[in-house]
Amino acid sequence: MKRKVKELSVLALILCCASFVFAETFGMKKRAPRPEEYGNVVINNFSEQNKIAPVVFKHWLHRAKFTCRLCHVDLGFAMEPGGTGIREQDIRNGIYCGACHNGKTAFRWEERNTIGKIRKNCDRCHSYGRKVEFKKDFYKFTKGFPRARFGNRVDWLKAEQMGLIKLKDAIEGITIKRRALKIPLDTEIEAKVAEMPDIIFSHKKHSVWSGCELCHPEIFGVKKGSTRFTMQDIFDGKYCGACHGKVAFMNMDCQLCHSKSVF
Ligand code: HEC
Ligand code: HEC
Ligand code: HEC
Ligand code: HEC
Ligand code: HEC
Ligand code: HEC
Repeated sequence: MKRKVKELSVLALILCCASFVFAETFGMKKRAPRPEEYGNVVINNFSEQNKIAPVVFKHWLHRAKFTCRLCHVDLGFAMEPGGTGIREQDIRNGIYCGACHNGKTAFRWEERNTIGKIRKNCDRCHSYGRKVEFKKDFYKFTKGFPRARFGNRVDWLKAEQMGLIKLKDAIEGITIKRRALKIPLDTEIEAKVAEMPDIIFSHKKHSVWSGCELCHPEIFGVKKGSTRFTMQDIFDGKYCGACHGKVAFMNMDCQLCHSKSVF
């Protein structure tokens, strides 16, 4: 009986918080994103003003091949749409997208086929609002991957564990080899509301994609309990919300974070 009351009160709490959940997903964005759209970033600092379609960058495809750390630390991409200020010339000089889109690791702006004919690849990147034939289709690519409830609807951690994807964390000539730091043990973060299950934060799980520098020292201090924030901050895209709700799993999946048993 007591247990039932507790379960009900947790449910009531989750329902009452649903208002800010909807404010996040349905207020601003109007509708929940489709699985193939979640984590896509439109880059348009210079495209439209130069009469070319804006660029669509897809996290689902790139995160299946590389760590977040490689792009957001070594290659210097900002974690903010348009924040990097990429220019077409940078790419042709081998910087930003051009560190890979150079005709070796991935396609480049133009390529010559076997009979010497030039094929332009502009529209594969400059694809916003246009009908483009892509090489990689989301549904074909993620077929057979373990499922999650929201976002890309892919359980990325499990997909990596199962060996369905292999992540590269270095690019020759760019990444500097460093001594690996010891990964701290899992910690609990108190939810500070009696009926809300506490959060189990796993450094081990995070180390698969995010090196230490993605979180320390900019987002979180390295002293236990030194960074203070609330659930609303997370919904607003700060702290855990710097990744969750944008590229990593969505904040609607409460129990993935609030996972410590209360019963
Ligand atoms: C690998 C992806 C990629 C490919 C391929 C690519 N671009 Fe871009 N391009 C970008 C990105 C990213 C930007 C920055 C977009 C922005 O901020 O508006 C950009 C910007 C531009 C701009 C804006 C002006 C400037 O100086 O940055 C023009 C014009 C442009 N590209 C033309 C082209 C043309 C023409 C091709 C094909 C020959 C091409 N691009 C191929 C990614 C690409
Ligand atoms: C291949 C490179 C690459 C990889 C891998 C990558 N990102 Fe990104 N990320 C980008 C680029 C490019 C942007 C857009 C930057 C810009 O517009 O200037 C971006 C933007 C973001 C943003 C802002 C998006 C928004 O809508 O607010 C977040 C958050 C982010 N990345 C998190 C991650 C996380 C978490 C991972 C790993 C799971 C990851 N990224 C992996 C290249 C990458
Ligand atoms: C760390 C390496 C890396 C970086 C950085 C990177 N890409 Fe990619 N990208 C790849 C690889 C690998 C593929 C898949 C292989 C291929 O299709 O050649 C790919 C595929 C793509 C595709 C899919 C095209 C299709 O037809 O399916 C697009 C679009 C794309 N990248 C755009 C970008 C843009 C825009 C940037 C920069 C903002 C960028 N990429 C940065 C490695 C990278
Ligand atoms: C996804 C974000 C994230 C990443 C990536 C991350 N950390 Fe942390 N780290 C945290 C958070 C959040 C806390 C604070 C926990 C608290 O306040 O109780 C923390 C706390 C710590 C602490 C102090 C607490 C303790 O348990 O000893 C150390 C040391 C630390 N991190 C080291 C690292 C190292 C080394 C790496 C890379 C292997 C790393 N962190 C990667 C988010 C991260
Ligand atoms: C730098 C980006 C980043 C930040 C900041 C971050 N995470 Fe994550 N987190 C990830 C990525 C990437 C994964 C892998 C799964 C995915 O992409 O959905 C992940 C996975 C997790 C998982 C594992 C879920 C499972 O299936 O087992 C939990 C729990 C989690 N994060 C909680 C947190 C909490 C709590 C915070 C804040 C204290 C936080 N994260 C901050 C990127 C981040
Ligand atoms: C990415 C991880 C993550 C997800 C997903 C998440 N939470 Fe939280 N939540 C946290 C963390 C971390 C705290 C602790 C903040 C602090 O120190 O007070 C927290 C705190 C809370 C609190 C305590 C009061 C407050 O505002 O800080 C409530 C209530 C709460 N979360 C409700 C929810 C609900 C409801 C959902 C699902 C709609 C949810 N959370 C999803 C990480 C998460």
